[in-house]
Amino acid sequence: MRYIKIEDAVPGMRLAYNLYDIDGHTLICSGSVLSKTYIKRLNDYGFDGVYIEDELSKDIYIEPVITPELRAEGIVTVRESNIDGCKVVAKKIVQEILDRGILSLDLTDLRSFDGYTYAHSVNVAVIACVIGFGLHMENDELEQLVMAGLLHDLGKLVIPREILNKPSRLTNEEYDVMKTHSTLSYELIRERWDIPANVKTAVLYHHENVDGSGYPEGMEGEQISLFTKILHTADVYDALISKRPYKKPYSPYEACEYLMGAGGIMFDPEIVEALLLCVPFYPKGTEVKLSDGRDGIIVENAGPRNLRPLLRLLDGTTLDLQEQEHFNVTILHESNENVLDPVMGEVGRKKMLMPTRRYSIMIIDSMRIHLQSMRGFLQHQYELQLFTNVDQAFRHLKRNTEPDLIILELNMPRVNGFEAAEKLRGIAGDKVPILFEIDTNDKSVIARCRKAGAAGYIVRPYKPAFVKAEIRRILTGQLVAH
Ligand SMILES: [Fe+2]
Repeated sequence: MRYIKIEDAVPGMRLAYNLYDIDGHTLICSGSVLSKTYIKRLNDYGFDGVYIEDELSKDIYIEPVITPELRAEGIVTVRESNIDGCKVVAKKIVQEILDRGILSLDLTDLRSFDGYTYAHSVNVAVIACVIGFGLHMENDELEQLVMAGLLHDLGKLVIPREILNKPSRLTNEEYDVMKTHSTLSYELIRERWDIPANVKTAVLYHHENVDGSGYPEGMEGEQISLFTKILHTADVYDALISKRPYKKPYSPYEACEYLMGAGGIMFDPEIVEALLLCVPFYPKGTEVKLSDGRDGIIVENAGPRNLRPLLRLLDGTTLDLQEQEHFNVTILHESNENVLDPVMGEVGRKKMLMPTRRYSIMIIDSMRIHLQSMRGFLQHQYELQLFTNVDQAFRHLKRNTEPDLIILELNMPRVNGFEAAEKLRGIAGDKVPILFEIDTNDKSVIARCRKAGAAGYIVRPYKPAFVKAEIRRILTGQLVAH
């Protein structure tokens, strides 16, 4: 079987997995042949892709982490806010994962826009459990993790739908409403004596970042429990790979890159590492484009094959990227680029007619090679002004209009980064946000950056997916996850 994007689905293809609606009813059965009507229905429901069975991929078998039936049961239980039911489902999920001994999340969850929160909760529970399993947690701890995953967003069910599914940037007021959901979830279980404190804390604090920039308390590092950190990482990972009204899904590779880039800022790097061990960059059965122009399907990706998998080319031949003779071939990354479109949220024709605003970014970094790499992944989207020293940047700013964002290396030779930032603001104006590039996510450095009014910071070696998401967050207010 293999995974295809919904836009590549054509009549005559045979479905490899059951598709469910939010009530747990089967929408289309495994083995059904896709028709025009089916494809339209899948599009209407917002499915991003489906698994199909064909000659080319018939020997590729992908095992789901939990059975589709249990997944459907979990979704219905969460939808009904059935807390007792969640306890039962949590036990079953842990049992299925332990029985299979699965440590790899190969199967892309197939879900629709409808009932995102419920499907997301089940997924977060499963991902958190697999991380916990990788960290050799005991059974009862795994059950608590799964419980926390199922319950963590229950509070969202009372957030107005217009805010929850808003396709564009949330206003500050709307974001404040959104931020109440973790406390609301906690309120629902606070008085339950039969729910362990570990679960309650993780639910309440699942949006806390290790650098103190999260909510509701702004807790830091070790103040945040291990359970909470696992839940937070699983939550954001799943939000990244999901299709939402305001963004295309990140590929697992990009999502991993984002998590690595945010290690020490949003997440505990050890938990990110634990997650990376169970998430294949290129899941089995997905189609990838190669640097030599060919396309292939991932056949084997375990362990060291994560970055250099075994592929089946579309003509049926096998290509092993680990073999020396193929070392020159690489997998091209898919990008969810247009999520950065600042006019996202406008619809149809209006959207097409509207000129897209191109933001300008000034980047100051003493190393030419860093500037080149930034240019590589930012230039097609932004107007860039690149400088290897601050004096050039000062001169440029005096003569030109200010950029929308300044990215500044904090530790440039013979330059005090904080003073340079002050001076840049003096010329460009206080409103221009500054994103610091730092060498280490040392607590005190991050604290100083925040004190200096940084709009954000990226740690070297930076990860493009995270840098791009941070830029989007600062310029457009679009978040990867609420
Ligand atoms: Fe949440």
